[in-house]
Amino acid sequence: MVKIIHKNSFYPAVIFLSLSLLIFFYINPVVSSLFADTQDKMFWDKKYGTEAYIFGKEPVEFLREHIGLLPRGKVLDIAMGEGRNAVFLAKHGFEVDGCDISEAAIKKARELARESNVAIHAFVADLETYQLPKDTYDVIICFYYLQRDLVPQMKAALKPGGVIIYETYTIENWERGFEGPKNKDYLLQSNELLHLFKDLKILYYRELVLNNKKAIASLIAKK
Ligand SMILES: C[S@@+](CC[C@H](N)C(=O)[O-])C[C@H]1O[C@@H](n2cnc3c(N)ncnc32)[C@H](O)[C@@H]1O
Repeated sequence: MVKIIHKNSFYPAVIFLSLSLLIFFYINPVVSSLFADTQDKMFWDKKYGTEAYIFGKEPVEFLREHIGLLPRGKVLDIAMGEGRNAVFLAKHGFEVDGCDISEAAIKKARELARESNVAIHAFVADLETYQLPKDTYDVIICFYYLQRDLVPQMKAALKPGGVIIYETYTIENWERGFEGPKNKDYLLQSNELLHLFKDLKILYYRELVLNNKKAIASLIAKK
C-alpha cells in the first residue's frame, strides 16, 4: 500500500519538476525578452506622445560638424527617434532609411520630413529582431542607442568604403549624475566604442563631457 502511494506521486512530481525547470531555463528568458521589448516600445511611445519634439528638430552637433566626411548615397538611421538627424541628412541630398521601435517616433519623423519638404523612408522595426540588409548603405548613423550585439550587423550592412557615425553616453554620464540612462547595459565603458569598431578604419574618436551636461563617446569609422 505504502509502495503504491510512493509510485503514484513520484512520476507526477518528476514531471512537475521537469516542466518547472523547462519553464525556468528555456521559456522564461524568451518570454521575459519579449516582455522587455514590449515594455521598451510602450516606454518610448509614451515619451514621444507629445506634440513637442522631445529631442528637438535640429541634428546632433557631431553629425552637423562632420557631414563632410560622409560619402553621398544611401543612409540608415538606427533608432532614428523623431527624425532630427534623418531629416537633416535628407535636406543635404542623402537618401535616408530610418527605423525605430516606436510608432509614435516614426509618425513624428514622417511629419518632420513633410514639413521640411524632404522624403525619408521611416519604418517601425525592433532592432532586437530586425535583420539589417547586407552591403546596402553608404552611411550608417547611430545616435544615443546602444545595442552591442547589433554592431556586427551594422558593419555588414555598410558597403565597402561606407562610413558609420556613432555617438552615445558613457558610464561617466551616470557616474556624474547627468540626465540619461541609468541601466549600465545602455552605457559605454571607456574606449568601448573604439574597441567595437577597431576592425574598421577609425577616422575620428573622442570621449568627453559636453557642456557639463552629458558624458559621451563619438566615433566615425570607414569600412
Ligand atoms: C535616446 S533615443 C535616440 C533617438 C535618435 N537617435 C536621436 O538621436 O534623436 C533612443 C531611441 O531608441 C529607440 N529604441 C529603443 N529600443 C529599440 C529597439 N529595440 N529597436 C529599435 N529602436 C529602439 C527608441 O524608441 C528611441 O527612439
